[in-house]
Amino acid sequence: MLETDLPPLYLKGRRLLPIVQGGMGVGVSAHRLAGAVARLGAVGTIASIDLRHHHPDLVAQGKHCRDKAALDKLNLVALEREIKAALDTARGEGLVAVNVMKAVAEHAALVRQACASGAQAVVMGAGLPLDLPELAEGFPEVALIPILSDARGIGIVLKKWMRKKRLPDAIVIEHPRYAGGHLGAPRPEDINDPRFDFPGVLESVFQLFKDMGIEREQIPLIPAGGINTYEKIRDLLALGAAAVQLGTPFAVTEESDAHPNFKKVLAEARPEDIVTFMSVAGLPARAVLTPWLANYLRRESKLQGDAKSHPERCASGLHCLTQCGLRDGIAKAGQFCIDSQLAAALRGDIGKGLFFRGSESLPFGAAIRPVRELLEYLLNGSKPALS
Ligand SMILES: Cc1cc2nc3c(=O)[nH]c(=O)nc-3n(C[C@H](O)[C@H](O)[C@H](O)COP(=O)(O)O)c2cc1C
Repeated sequence: MLETDLPPLYLKGRRLLPIVQGGMGVGVSAHRLAGAVARLGAVGTIASIDLRHHHPDLVAQGKHCRDKAALDKLNLVALEREIKAALDTARGEGLVAVNVMKAVAEHAALVRQACASGAQAVVMGAGLPLDLPELAEGFPEVALIPILSDARGIGIVLKKWMRKKRLPDAIVIEHPRYAGGHLGAPRPEDINDPRFDFPGVLESVFQLFKDMGIEREQIPLIPAGGINTYEKIRDLLALGAAAVQLGTPFAVTEESDAHPNFKKVLAEARPEDIVTFMSVAGLPARAVLTPWLANYLRRESKLQGDAKSHPERCASGLHCLTQCGLRDGIAKAGQFCIDSQLAAALRGDIGKGLFFRGSESLPFGAAIRPVRELLEYLLNGSKPALS
């Protein structure tokens, strides 16, 4: 485990570095990244969505297939392989978690597969994870970690889970103004609301714990979004956070599972290139304004005007989302196939891909460096010599 003066994070009795690498789909955080992070004593997270893209044999089996059940099965096989490979790399160090988005139609099967394949934690966001305790039933050793954005959402989840005699093992608090991917603010105009600022949310959640008779230490709180310096981490831990979660800085590491072009697009994006827009999942999202996104946004209002519900509108046949703006004709949501666009980004197709990214600058600028150097900087403030 790397050295640091920062206090450790405890999860299910394991002593960990207080850094969590957030789940990043499609395929950006798979076994290579999550395993490398865990190996150094921190929390590495595999994003469970559509992992077959990393397995040529499974891609071949799914080619020209539009049978949802068959495609889902291939993705469960891929998830099992990725978890086993990450645990192998971690060699008993750190923690290997699996991220499951509640908005994904197969979320229940993905949680069950993650638990059965040996994931040490399940992290669930993009919707309220009210049913997570039941889905993970029979696996009491697996830590359950919701992702939420404000004290109100945390209160709802706590009340529901306490009736089931279960508490979250930690809670990730993701700030919609800074995070990459889908954002936890229901409407675009809420993204900058000060109610999401970390100091206020931490204070309100500690008060909520007190009112509900929960000790502070029982549920570690993990802020996420825009955390890009050692100083920010130190300050958040001083406010009572138990760890922090980062996405974008890990997406551009050497070990990140995405194509080098993916890392280049994220690392070289200027502040004015990073935009928020409505995703097909009905949530705002943040990404880099690459050619596909710029073109889509130019046509967005026309496409939304033409929205109509039809199962054949699901381009991949995967029917990945419970509710999809394109397939279900929801005019106020996005009108594109998110699975195809994210898969194109993972492959490094700069022209066609959708490249999720957080809003803030990166610790090492445009440099692509190993996970070890990133963790050393986050834990101690020491930067490598960058050419
Ligand atoms: C490329 C990318 C993909 C992401 N995919 C997911 C995902 O599948 N599920 C999820 O819960 N969060 C996802 N996120 C959010 C991250 O896990 C993380 O919480 C967030 O990006 C933190 O903000 P930061 O990027 O400023 O560090 C994604 C973020 C990025 C940059």
